[in-house]
Parts: sequence; structure tokens; C-alpha cells
Amino acid sequence: MPTINYVLKDGTRRAIDVPNGTSIMLGAINNNLRGIDAECGGCCSCATCHVYIEESDMARLKPADSVEKELLEGVAAERRPTSRLSCQIDVTAALDGITVHMPDRQS
Ligand code: FES
Repeated sequence: MPTINYVLKDGTRRAIDVPNGTSIMLGAINNNLRGIDAECGGCCSCATCHVYIEESDMARLKPADSVEKELLEGVAAERRPTSRLSCQIDVTAALDGITVHMPDRQS
């Protein structure tokens, strides 16, 4: 099971084993990590699952599709080049050890 490193708003780091085939968003929600709201449940319509990917890990992700890019225009916190919607990032073995940072707010 890949390990995903979540960095919370207060700087706390949590390493969570997240099942393959789920998402970065579900890894946070299922482990009660604060900082991801995921109001739409992962159907790519709310933008409240915004995260910043560690810059050195960006190349390990598939690029955002057009729907995700459009929703990223409306995130509540600052949008950065490393911004992604965590519900759109499928967890695979290739992402083992990736680090994601929670933004300062989701709404
Ligand atoms: S959970 Fe709503 S867009 Fe990701």
C-alpha cells in the first residue's frame, strides 16, 4: 500500500498508507485529516479538495485534465503551479512516498 505524506496547515506531518485505487482525497478523509473538505465526494465539482503537491513530486503525477484545470480556477486558497484537486489523483504504487500540503482554507 503506497504511503502518502500529508502536511497539515499547522505543519504537522502524517504518513498514511492509502490503498491502491483510491485517491489522495480519500486517504485524508478516511483518516480524519483536517484540511480537505471534499464537499462533492470526489466527483470533481466542488474544488474543496485542493492540495499543493511537493514540487519535486509533480512529475510523478498525470497532468490535470481540462475539468480539473477549470475547477482549479476557483479554489479558495492561493492557486500555485503545484495546485491539484486531490480527488483527481488516483493512488498507485508509483506515488509511494509523495508529499501533499493542505492549503490554508478550502472555502
Ligand atoms: S472532492 Fe469535490 S472536486 Fe474534489
